[in-house]
Amino acid sequence: MKLLFKNIKGLVGVREDKKLLLKGDEMKSLSVIEDAFLLTENEEILEYGKMDDLLIDDWNELQIIDVDGRFILPGFIDSHTHVVWAGNRESEFVDRINGLSYEEIANRGGGILNSAMKLSNTSEDELYKNAKTRIEELMSLGTVALEIKSGYGLSIEGELKMLRVIKRLKETLPLPIKATFLGAHAFPMKFRDDQDAYIDLIINEMLPAIVKEGLADYIDAFLETGYFSVAQTERVMEAGNKYGLRAKIHVNQFTAIGGVKAAVDNDALSVDHLEEMNNDDFEALKNSKTMPVVLPNCSFFLSIPYAPARRMIDEGLPVALASDYNPGSTPSGNMQQVVATACIKMKLNPEEAINAATLNAAYAIELSESHGSITKGKKASFFVTKKIDSYSFIPYAFGSDHIDSVIVKGSVVRKGEILDA
Ligand code: NIG
Ligand code: FE
Repeated sequence: MKLLFKNIKGLVGVREDKKLLLKGDEMKSLSVIEDAFLLTENEEILEYGKMDDLLIDDWNELQIIDVDGRFILPGFIDSHTHVVWAGNRESEFVDRINGLSYEEIANRGGGILNSAMKLSNTSEDELYKNAKTRIEELMSLGTVALEIKSGYGLSIEGELKMLRVIKRLKETLPLPIKATFLGAHAFPMKFRDDQDAYIDLIINEMLPAIVKEGLADYIDAFLETGYFSVAQTERVMEAGNKYGLRAKIHVNQFTAIGGVKAAVDNDALSVDHLEEMNNDDFEALKNSKTMPVVLPNCSFFLSIPYAPARRMIDEGLPVALASDYNPGSTPSGNMQQVVATACIKMKLNPEEAINAATLNAAYAIELSESHGSITKGKKASFFVTKKIDSYSFIPYAFGSDHIDSVIVKGSVVRKGEILDA
């Protein structure tokens, strides 16, 4: 099956250089072919170019889609989500409005433990159904691949339950999904006074059971004051590495305690959050293979500082953007909004923000060989905008949905005006 998208006002994010990530100044380069066509075959991008250069031998084999002056962008990759959860936490949201902090709520047994309690009372089927509905909404908003973490199970059965749900989502949804084991998300109440026993449980019982069923691609921990220490997280990362699970670590959300260096030293694929960064953290990231992933909508929702993404880019680092979609700190997974917040609050240029939400984000879940740009042979996973004057309109007119249609691996997952005709 071949699809020809013609009369594209701007084909955005075209890359032929096969770069797997962009650093520093490179992040400003977002090449656009104006008045373009894009040809896909089955799941992949076959060809693209200027309309003037369009040469087709056999028009009979094609479904032709007239994009009629709209833009096409590579779909968003969301490399950090907690999209499988039970219930919601609006009451904590109201508590925060009335003056409590995220930490104070957690210390009262709210927060992650509240979600863990709700999850233990929810069936796998129910969890699957709700997560599927959320992901379908994300796809309609332009997300074409994502990562999902466990971490609301906090027991062997609970973590296996979450990861089995993620496996089912992988098998039934059209977009690629990576699964991350986050047993080290919070200490369950009964381990409050014997934290190392919980680390032992993660390493000696949860991890082998998860690996045996092939349920995880990566391993994560919430490395933070009051949660998992550097030493505890190192044990978790080392254990994961033994099973071939690279680390993606929640770190520096509230405090900088040396976690970034510890993650880099353990060959972490990414370090995520990074709202609080000191000079040592910057140094640790330089010349590493670890992607800094920033989550601006978490900062927005919790009213905490924004990660210094501008400084990261100015100092030559790469940056990826992700949603952190979860019921506590970021109950929104809209990547159009993430790009907008990054531009408005972190001072990224639209080009940098789009690269951060596509190619660099794909790197953070090892998908940048097949996703993240408009490149021959990469997956045909992209979106067509509504009629707008420039791609900068997407972050500028924040809060609106600027997408007409979404294609995931060559299949239409959101059918807008261009496909209605
Ligand atoms: O990335 N910071 C740790 N974990 C999540 C929030 C989890 C929750 O509050 O349920 C985050 O923000
Ligand atoms: Fe998170």
